[in-house]
Amino acid sequence: MRRQLELVVNGEARRLELEDQRSLLSVLRDDLGLYGAKYGCGEGHCGACTVLVDGVPRRSCTTQVGTVAGKEITTVEGLEHDGKLHPVQQAFLEEEAFQCGYCTCGMIMGACGLLRRNPRPTAAQIRTFLDGHLCRCGTYQRIVAAVQRASRLLQGAQP
Ligand code: FES
Ligand code: FES
Repeated sequence: MRRQLELVVNGEARRLELEDQRSLLSVLRDDLGLYGAKYGCGEGHCGACTVLVDGVPRRSCTTQVGTVAGKEITTVEGLEHDGKLHPVQQAFLEEEAFQCGYCTCGMIMGACGLLRRNPRPTAAQIRTFLDGHLCRCGTYQRIVAAVQRASRLLQGAQP
C-alpha cells in the first residue's frame, strides 16, 4: 500500500510517500541516494545490505520499509562525525580489511552492532556474530583483526 512514511535516517527525519512493502534497501539507495548498503543476494544471506535499526544490525534487502517507520536507521554514511571516521571505519582502514570493498559497509555495520552489544568480543565471538556476512575476496582474518582494533579504539586504548 502506498502511504506517507516518516523515516529517521542517520538522525534526519524524512517524510516520503512510498509503497510500504518495498525493501528498505531500495528506498535507501533509489530514493535517498545512500549507496553504502549494497545489493548482494537480495535474500538475507550475504550481509552486504546490513544497516542498523535502533542500533541492531538488519538486512535491509528483506526489511519492508513500512516496518521501520519512525525507527532510527543508521547507514555507513551516518557513522562519521565532523569529518572524522567512526573508530570501526578507521580500524577497517588501518587493518586493510577489504579488497574489492563490496562487503565492507555491511561488515562495518555488523561490527558496530556487535560492539554495541559486546564491547570486548573475542575472535571467536566476532566470527560467530559476522557468520552471515560473506566476503568473496576472503578477507575474513583481517576483518576479525579490524573488529578487535575497533574494540580497542572505542575503549581509548592503543590499537
Ligand atoms: S543483499 Fe541483503 S543479505 Fe544479501
Ligand atoms: S572485500 Fe571483496 S567481497 Fe569482501
